[in-house]
Amino acid sequence: MKPCEKLLIENKAWAAEKIVQEPDFFKKLSGDQTPEFLWIGCADSRVPAEIIVNAEPGEIFVHRNIANQVIATDFNSQSVLQYAVDVLKVRHVIVCGHYNCGGIKAALDKQRVDLTLVNKWLIHIKDIYRIHQNEIESLDTQEKRVNRLVELNIIEQVQRLSHTAIIQNAWKREQRPVLHGWVYGLDNGVINPLVTLPPGTHINSIYQFVEPPDNDS
Ligand code: CO
Repeated sequence: MKPCEKLLIENKAWAAEKIVQEPDFFKKLSGDQTPEFLWIGCADSRVPAEIIVNAEPGEIFVHRNIANQVIATDFNSQSVLQYAVDVLKVRHVIVCGHYNCGGIKAALDKQRVDLTLVNKWLIHIKDIYRIHQNEIESLDTQEKRVNRLVELNIIEQVQRLSHTAIIQNAWKREQRPVLHGWVYGLDNGVINPLVTLPPGTHINSIYQFVEPPDNDS
């Protein structure tokens, strides 16, 4: 059997089992979705969002990319954020990274000349390293340095969420969503919360928005 055939066979078995457990499971889901959470995670195959928090279809709106980045010029993550916050009205946005992240490890290494697109993606993580270089370099093993940058990267992505007009407007108008930064341990399966930004958290003024100046004169 080809690997992809196995996936399709497993899918049929899964759908049949769901119907046995709850006959109108798919009927209920085929209307609108009302997830309470937006999950921004790493694309790593070992960190599947719904499975590690035991969630069902319909519970979490998911976006995953290499090293769980929130980049202001990335239409993909930004449009997911806008849809989740302004249309689905999620109550929580979770950035979940993980220790021993390959994207973070790569960002601490030299740039491979052939990986032109990946290099552009990782440059934002290198910037975080540069800001925290002294702290990271004071650690005595590469594993510790990688894992500290994993944590600093998650905290930075939560900050970047708070710098968007999408989040600032939702905080002002509807006092939601709460922003969370979590880190997952590949070696024990446990998630640790690192940072929480509730609506109304003070944002550095350089990231706040103002109306344009009057141009009447
Ligand atoms: Co990763």
